[in-house]
Amino acid sequence: MPRATEPTSVHDSLVLEPRDVRFDWSRLPLHWIPDEPMATHTINVLHLLLPEGERWFVRLFKEALPMITDEQLREEVLGFIGQEAIHAEAHQEVLEHLLAQGLDPRPYVRQTSWLFQRVLGDKPNLTPAQRREHIIERVASVAAVEHFTAFLGDWALNSPGLDRAKADPTMLDLLRWHGAEEVEHRSVAYDLMVHLDPGYLRRVRGMAVAGPLLVHLWVRGVRFLLAADPTLEGRVKPTWREAQLIGRRGLLPQPGRMARSAARYFRPGYHPTQEGSSSQALSYLATSPAARAATTTSH
Ligand SMILES: [Fe+2]
Ligand SMILES: [Fe+2]
Repeated sequence: MPRATEPTSVHDSLVLEPRDVRFDWSRLPLHWIPDEPMATHTINVLHLLLPEGERWFVRLFKEALPMITDEQLREEVLGFIGQEAIHAEAHQEVLEHLLAQGLDPRPYVRQTSWLFQRVLGDKPNLTPAQRREHIIERVASVAAVEHFTAFLGDWALNSPGLDRAKADPTMLDLLRWHGAEEVEHRSVAYDLMVHLDPGYLRRVRGMAVAGPLLVHLWVRGVRFLLAADPTLEGRVKPTWREAQLIGRRGLLPQPGRMARSAARYFRPGYHPTQEGSSSQALSYLATSPAARAATTTSH
């Protein structure tokens, strides 16, 4: 359900601080939502995709920096870069913990890093005009992905089902700290895309590329993790029906809600501030154990 638009003052005063958080994973159980391997691994796909994905955001946005002619937007992009760099490292540590517990994520990560570095990376031998176009096209894909990360962040901040299921509190803090920062910076990639190209077609193309790719990577990731989990021996097979049932119990976002959220991205008057709540995000960050213990890094 979309919330009312934020007052403009919240957005206008956007100052993004990268919070240098630390988490201790030494006691994290493999199924950190107890007895819920499919829900656990569906969320674990974040750890597979985000380290490489967010490092790609950072490289791309650094490439885009010289093209920005608005000082406020430039500051926001710098804050975005700082936050995403820390997100990538936080999820990377979970991957290392999975490996230590006998679930080897490296085959999947190798494939995604090839995708982000080779297929979606900077291309050599482009003319300046082609290079600019290549940057804008990828920024449009990031803007679409950020629509989903904000949706997921908003869900994480409003997911009492995870608390009821006694999900691991440190993992919940990681998800909600990251989710809150995604909600906090949800308009940056979109505003950058519009700054570089205000055309509606660019926005549509970004979602048309990024939406199906993200779903594809996610489904593959869930299948991979369930197959690689040494305690399951391939017994749990993921299905959309099962995802829907788990979603109804509040342990995953419901696929139908996510599809409706994606559809809103195509509305002509769309802006990311129409979804999620900056004040809710900031109030979580004010109480998050990791964010409170973090030192703020300046960029
Ligand atoms: Fe992030
Ligand atoms: Fe983000």
